[in-house]
Amino acid sequence: MTNFTSVKEKVVIVTGAADGLGKAIAETYAANGMLVVLSDVNEQLGQKVVENISESGGEAVFYKANVANEEEIIALVQFAVENYGELDGIVNNAGIAAPNKVLHELSLAEFEAVQNVNFKGVFLGMKYGIEAILKSKSTGGFVINIASLAGLQANSGMSLYTASKHAVVGLTKNAALDYAAHNITVNAICPGTFRTAIWNDAPEEVITSLAKQLSPNGRLGDPTEIANLALFLASDLSRFTNGSIISMDAGASAGKALPLEWENPGILGE
Ligand SMILES: NC(=O)c1ccc[n+]([C@@H]2O[C@H](COP(=O)([O-])OP(=O)(O)OC[C@H]3O[C@@H](n4cnc5c(N)ncnc54)[C@H](O)[C@@H]3O)[C@@H](O)[C@H]2O)c1
Repeated sequence: MTNFTSVKEKVVIVTGAADGLGKAIAETYAANGMLVVLSDVNEQLGQKVVENISESGGEAVFYKANVANEEEIIALVQFAVENYGELDGIVNNAGIAAPNKVLHELSLAEFEAVQNVNFKGVFLGMKYGIEAILKSKSTGGFVINIASLAGLQANSGMSLYTASKHAVVGLTKNAALDYAAHNITVNAICPGTFRTAIWNDAPEEVITSLAKQLSPNGRLGDPTEIANLALFLASDLSRFTNGSIISMDAGASAGKALPLEWENPGILGE
């Protein structure tokens, strides 16, 4: 029978784990017996997630770190190894939105703010995470980078975000080749539009209209759907999956969904 027991006792770092997709990934990992180091700049929310995981019988700890700060990422990885004795995987999930402007109106400060978190942050997580996975001699090592649909295609006014996520895709493909012979898989997930904190303040009708525009199936994704894919990529069921840029977007990256009249709509019944 196929199951996910191979993830049990694997030690993993999840960045940006206090909320949204990272939180769902951390919770799913802990629920499946992984030893999870949650990291985020938001300590209060992060500790709350750890408390909930512990109450549900899972194993997790929190370590505050800004992914854009090299010293803090070195310390985070060191903490994980000291706490659990090894490192098997890292999920580079922390990311921020970018200003929606045409390129010539963007400032260098805006460029640096986005690339520092979305590009440099993933680079640092990979650099120090991979080093620790190699030293741990993990036989099931893995890196999962959370890119975006914007890592595959552009959207008007989104240069900085698009460029940062294309960079994540590039790092993923290259590292997949560099470590293929060293028991580490490196893959990226490209989420479409998911219901996370970004949409907390938006009225329900705005969310419904967004879902219709952005998701061919008319709904926003649920963070647990990304978490299930991240569980597969952390498990030994996916050892032949490497350098894969996996979209989860209800089909948005497959092409443009347009309304189409059916010759025989009656097939669906009343
Ligand atoms: N939600 C979506 O629809 C969507 C779509 C495509 C890609 N993504 C990507 O998924 C990832 C997670 O997004 P989300 O929607 O869950 O966002 P979110 O805002 O709900 O959560 C992101 C978390 O990252 C933390 N964070 C931000 N900057 C950080 C930093 N410098 N260092 C450490 N932690 C930091 C935040 O405190 C927060 O807890 C991001 O990389 C985002 O670009 C999200």
